[in-house]
Amino acid sequence: MSDAAVESRDAIENLLSEDRTFDPPASFVERANVADPKVWETAAADPEAYWAAWARELEWSRPFTQGLDWSDAPFARWFADGQLNASVNCLDRHVERGLGQRVAFHWQGEDGERRSVTYAQLLEEVSRCANALRELGVQRGDRVAIYMPMVVELPVAMLACARIGAAHSVVFGGFSSQALADRIVDASAKVVITADGGYRRGKVVELKAATDEAVRMAATDGQQVESVLCYRRLQGHDTPWTDGRDHWWHEIVGRQQAECAPEAMDSEDLLFLLYTSGTTAKPKGIMHTTGGYLTGAHATANMVFDLKDDDVYWCAADIGWVTGHSYIVYGPLSNGVTSVIYEGAPDWPDKDRLWSIVAEYGVSIFYTAPTAIRAFIKWGDEHPARHDLSSLRLLGSVGEPINPEAWMWYHERIGAERCPIVDTWWQTETGHIMVSPLPGLTRTKPGSATQALPGIEVSVVDEQGEPVGRGHGGYLTIDRPWPGMARGIWGNPERFVETYWSQVPGRYFVGDGAKIDEDGYLWVLGRVDDVMNVSGHRLSTTEVESALVEHPAIAEAAVVGRSHELTGECVVAYVVLEGHHEASDELIGELNAHVSERIGKFARPHMVLFTPEVPKTRSGKIMRRLLRDIAEGRELGDTTTLQDPTVVDALAEQVRSRG
Ligand code: WTA
Repeated sequence: MSDAAVESRDAIENLLSEDRTFDPPASFVERANVADPKVWETAAADPEAYWAAWARELEWSRPFTQGLDWSDAPFARWFADGQLNASVNCLDRHVERGLGQRVAFHWQGEDGERRSVTYAQLLEEVSRCANALRELGVQRGDRVAIYMPMVVELPVAMLACARIGAAHSVVFGGFSSQALADRIVDASAKVVITADGGYRRGKVVELKAATDEAVRMAATDGQQVESVLCYRRLQGHDTPWTDGRDHWWHEIVGRQQAECAPEAMDSEDLLFLLYTSGTTAKPKGIMHTTGGYLTGAHATANMVFDLKDDDVYWCAADIGWVTGHSYIVYGPLSNGVTSVIYEGAPDWPDKDRLWSIVAEYGVSIFYTAPTAIRAFIKWGDEHPARHDLSSLRLLGSVGEPINPEAWMWYHERIGAERCPIVDTWWQTETGHIMVSPLPGLTRTKPGSATQALPGIEVSVVDEQGEPVGRGHGGYLTIDRPWPGMARGIWGNPERFVETYWSQVPGRYFVGDGAKIDEDGYLWVLGRVDDVMNVSGHRLSTTEVESALVEHPAIAEAAVVGRSHELTGECVVAYVVLEGHHEASDELIGELNAHVSERIGKFARPHMVLFTPEVPKTRSGKIMRRLLRDIAEGRELGDTTTLQDPTVVDALAEQVRSRG
């Protein structure tokens, strides 16, 4: 078992003193979408039939007759002979059943601008955008990069791609030009959709300027971007422009017809790519296809969030990450629910911004991340207390393990002890929620994601793939194919097999450590590989290391995650200087700037430690466990086997002196 898994095993012991339990309130149970306690059993008896029943809730232009095809394992095919269009399922289907006037999105800009868009309006806007993309030469099978702020036009752009059979590749607006360029090149995107900018904490984020830079970088890397479609979010802003290549959204989209015939897509046609960090420096383009992904997003949004016609649902994530793809765009829209989208920061202009939005729209379901909850706790109870939160009926958490204290605060201060909490475990690669309470059925325990959803089977195993048994820590694995599972890594099928299907025989390797307690509850412990989780953002240690060594002053770098009370983990970098360079605050500033430029601001090291050498094993492997212990300020134990123990002592002293 790896170092990290051993650490996980230790960590779990502390957690398991948790013995509080919470039953779903009776009022909730009566109306719950999933109310039959036999649902797990029924689904387990025939998982394919279970998922096929959910798939039949969607509209198929050619109904499927096949369920799972696992003959090319681990490359799954679901409902492969069926055809459908994701945008039709998210929009036309609801308009046709008379829900055109229902609000799809209540949007609020950080600057206070407000807009509500109905399903009928969204369909028109998507159709126009789809026609514009066709005019720009986008064809079925192409990839389109999207780099936008949190505006309604972002889901519009995604659904417009889906409508004409192009795959979108959304790149989070917090990524740098270089990161965007890498993703444009990897996916060979010829078109980029962006905006002049967006607002974040009262400041303008210059997305178009960053896009221009990315397009220039991509060109030197052999990928020519032919068109940039730019949405105007700002007023009176001086936007850099390249005639011939750049097109204003309001001009080219504005003049299109409001109808656009959707492409009939094969169930296994690519719906989108979403890049995520792995254990190497190169991000992976995770592939999701149409029928299975949409089935999974639809079904889980329905089961886990218990979506109803009169709900106002709010997933406060960014659409640039998978949570936003599945639970702001595809899942909620395919269920025809009304959602909220908020553009900006949770503490702007004040720390009660989110609660004022909950009260204003009467939000009934609220989904956020533990890192946000910890920030709310720190900001103080007075902020939520100032607002009427009585519309809330269900709360969700995602992105990292939620510590029981944060869970209890969420339960008491936001949910007024009335709202079930769904702690949802899943990943970019799983496409949709895999482990979570069902809010009308599951007795919850603070800090536990409880159990796999119906139709999903997970185990906690050792390296040989043997279940470790209740009460023991091990690797979390998924034991049978599920509809939304990743279909591969773009351009790199070998890496897909190697990363996810080779570590533990016969099972999907998740990369997380976990434990199932005596009552059968699953506790997720965090990553067991070299992936960090900073504010719910996945980040690879090697990605940050390779950014650091690009700097001329750095000869070598080793990066680890250290726990942080707000962000979950933060980045700690150990760097060895090149020749004549000297350690200084100025150099630290430069390194931070460089990492921001290479990846994005969120990847900046929290602490940079200078060292004459990086502690390694005799075979030359970086001793990450030791580096984590140093970073955490933990007792170091026996360091006498190291080549030079004084190096480690000096590092520990640096950490101590910086707090
Ligand atoms: C972590 C985000 C504990 C986990 C949807 C996983 C969680 C990684 C939870 C995926 C949770 C996500 N409890 N850990 N409820 N949800 N994680 O791809 O380490 O950005 O492997 O997808 O986040 O991150 P990703």
